[in-house]
Amino acid sequence: RRKPSRKGSMADVPKDLLDQIKELERLFSVDQAKLKEVTEHFVGELEKGLSVEGGSIPMNPTWVMGYPDGYETGTFLALDMGGTNLRVCEIILGEEKGEFEIIQSKYRMPDELKSGDSEELWEYIADCLQQFIEYHHEVEDLEQMDSKLPLGFTFSFPATQDFIDHGVLQRWTKGFDISGVEGKDVAPLFEAALEKRKLPVRLSALINDTTGTLIASHYTDDTMQIGCIFGTGCNAAYMENCGSVPKIAHYNLPPDMPIAINCEYGAFDNELVVLPRTPFDVIIDNDSPRPGQQAFEKMIAGLYLGELFRLVLVDLHDNKCGLFEGQDISKLRKAYSLDASFLSFIEEDPFENLSETAELFARELSLKGSKPELELCRRLAELIGTRAARLSACGVAAICKKKKIESCHVGADGSVFNKYPHFKVRGAQALREILDWPKGKRDPVDIRAAEDGSGVGAALIAALTIKRVKAGNL
Ligand code: GLC
Repeated sequence: RRKPSRKGSMADVPKDLLDQIKELERLFSVDQAKLKEVTEHFVGELEKGLSVEGGSIPMNPTWVMGYPDGYETGTFLALDMGGTNLRVCEIILGEEKGEFEIIQSKYRMPDELKSGDSEELWEYIADCLQQFIEYHHEVEDLEQMDSKLPLGFTFSFPATQDFIDHGVLQRWTKGFDISGVEGKDVAPLFEAALEKRKLPVRLSALINDTTGTLIASHYTDDTMQIGCIFGTGCNAAYMENCGSVPKIAHYNLPPDMPIAINCEYGAFDNELVVLPRTPFDVIIDNDSPRPGQQAFEKMIAGLYLGELFRLVLVDLHDNKCGLFEGQDISKLRKAYSLDASFLSFIEEDPFENLSETAELFARELSLKGSKPELELCRRLAELIGTRAARLSACGVAAICKKKKIESCHVGADGSVFNKYPHFKVRGAQALREILDWPKGKRDPVDIRAAEDGSGVGAALIAALTIKRVKAGNL
């Protein structure tokens, strides 16, 4: 794509539309004071989540007790149940420190599966795994294998774990709504499907994508202290000391032993104390399969950005300035018909006359926008994208404050981080505002592209687990 060469020009936007833009700016802007207020509250909520009483942020102990030392070896499978795809990898961790090879296949995750029933889900996952194994291994080799291939399963949902290879799903997030899984241990459900197919695979570790990201990133850069996902959902993991986690005190672990915590901070402020929600955020929440949950995530994650944009446009058409007046907006009325890439595209339109945006609206929504209307759409995309990046920074800043980290690298992954224009720059700017760094110096906390958490990270965690089992520490 061409390099953006234009700045939004509002000169020719008529007054009624300009008033709407001003109102949207008021609704969607988060200033420095608000960022600080959100972060302050966030720090307390992280703390609460670690306590015996708990809070709205789950702060799930993952039983990943420290980082790999770089000498993990062996062949591992990794399965990643993401939002849109299912990915299967085989990873060979080599003898050389930090060396690995990876092969992988992606399978589409059909939308129907996300609201289907439990059985269908596990059958589908096991089928993909079987296809992968049969494609990459000779049948005879498989039959001769005397031990099963260890598998790290990246299951990126909140789970209560008493053991690293088990996890009780607390609740579905990211729009998933599969009956019969919440409150259940997903390990036996998955293992039953493996067993049915006689797959030579053993579930070694159940992992969150953020934990995988943390471990994989630290493997190649030991200044990485936080693993984050800014994608369909948003969340982070970091290392805590067992002694600082009152809710696991009854395990009597050494207080200075590290343990990775999957924050599940998409659930931050479910009580709605500080988040600057707009009426559109309220609609998103009410119409979601789990109202009242994931308040923070619903304002910033990729799954919701297009929907927010769509809701505002429909409101402007129906109730406000008559946007796209006289046109049939039926395509725009379909919930979740726009995804974050729609906004990315608009923000990246390099032309002064917004010709690519005009084409996009015509192609996808059969709508013809006037130049001022397209200017409004562009500003709205910018506002929604900027709010997401700025609020996202609060989560990272809160972990740094909680842990008194003054400088570190943060490993980040996810479609929004990797693909949404200006997300990184906007997030970095917000961090500067929250943490009051002096101008002109290098940023002490630097959010960077992570290593592959649900591939390499999952393999490393499986390897670490096996080492611990062998050492009798589990
Ligand atoms: C949601 C999930 C969480 C995951 C995040 C990013 O917040 O609950 O487990 O890490 O999305 O995928």
